[in-house]
Amino acid sequence: MRILLMNGPNLNMLGVREPDIYGRDTLATLEDMVTRAGVERGVEVGCFQSNHEGALVDKLHEAHTAYDGVIYNPGAHTHYSYALRDAVASISTPVVEVHISDVDAREPFRAISVFDGVVAEKISGRGFQGYVDALDVLLERLRSAH
Ligand code: DQA
Repeated sequence: MRILLMNGPNLNMLGVREPDIYGRDTLATLEDMVTRAGVERGVEVGCFQSNHEGALVDKLHEAHTAYDGVIYNPGAHTHYSYALRDAVASISTPVVEVHISDVDAREPFRAISVFDGVVAEKISGRGFQGYVDALDVLLERLRSAH
């Protein structure tokens, strides 16, 4: 089984960016953590981060055939990118939306997600652990489907 871990804009700045909200650990640490969790569960994890909407759309299209599931933190795209929502809706690969912070407890604009209704599940406010939880959600879903 192959799972894509995809992070959107500004998540390359983890560790530097607003550490009171996002913590001091880096994207490399996050990718390592999820990759290791994958190894423990017998799945391969591919990692991708981009600050560019089109590159993220292209990667989701690729995931339609190249991956069995996607763990996706869309960053600020969560709140306005209909192009990315449509990309998620275009593929049959299940996508779990993840947010490090509790988006419902912050500014009102963060409580709105354009991905509502097209993702398999949304996990918010669990820090990096939310990504590992998303991996387990995907595996449970994929394994029960087979
Ligand atoms: C985020 C929350 C978003 O509102 C924000 O724009 C991000 C990160 C999170 O992981 O908590 O870039 O998705």
